[in-house]
Amino acid sequence: MGGAACRSRNDAADAGSDVTVAVDTAPVADPVAEPEPRTEAVPEAIVFDVYGTLLDISALVDHVRSVVGPTPADAFVALWRRKQLEYSWLHTLMGRYIDFWEVTHGALRHVARHHDLALDRAAEQRLMQGWLELPAYPEVTGALADLGGTSLAILSNGAPRMLEEGLPGDLRARFGEVLSADAVREYKPSPRVYRLAAERLGVHPGGILFVSSNQWDIAGAAGFGFRVAWIDRAGVARDELAGIPEVAVPDLSALARALRP
Ligand code: LAC
Repeated sequence: MGGAACRSRNDAADAGSDVTVAVDTAPVADPVAEPEPRTEAVPEAIVFDVYGTLLDISALVDHVRSVVGPTPADAFVALWRRKQLEYSWLHTLMGRYIDFWEVTHGALRHVARHHDLALDRAAEQRLMQGWLELPAYPEVTGALADLGGTSLAILSNGAPRMLEEGLPGDLRARFGEVLSADAVREYKPSPRVYRLAAERLGVHPGGILFVSSNQWDIAGAAGFGFRVAWIDRAGVARDELAGIPEVAVPDLSALARALRP
């Protein structure tokens, strides 16, 4: 059994519950000795999620701080992202599609109310503009260059406008296709969105390696039949949603190394 993380008994006692926690005493693998992850085979195409995978959402924190002053910007952005995703899933489940810019705007209005902020239209527009100015993670350009021999595409919930204006030019040029869920008027993890990528690329699902930092997205892609690579940027525990990804790596440089023939 692998080294299962678990709360110590003291933590349980602190939590006011006398919970006996089985502590796994298996030796923790030495991270230095662990071999680098490897993929099974070079895929026909590699398809990327955008927010949190290619573009760094945490850059919104400083942007929000510049607009909302002493409000805790970290908490503001975390709730904004969570509500953005929740609303996208609920709009899909309800069959009431609105585009991701409007989803994000609605989530912003909720967060402002949550923080008792009265944002005027100008402040809302300034905050929304932050989603069109997100930087790519530092390793992305170099890692994509290392993957240059394979067909690369984007599959994002982002509205067409967000992808057209929000992808830095040098980054956009790396991808043969930039696909928005807007084309099928449903959001990931709906299978219809992943099917859009397979059909537009003309590649069988098993020939596509889907890359995302979002575990719910990995679950949806794996469920559709894509091979999946999880970019675990935050070093969080793996969800019980989708089994074990083919590779789990901390960034795209490690993914490029895993894909080397
Ligand atoms: C994307 C967001 C949901 O689809 O991560 O890019």
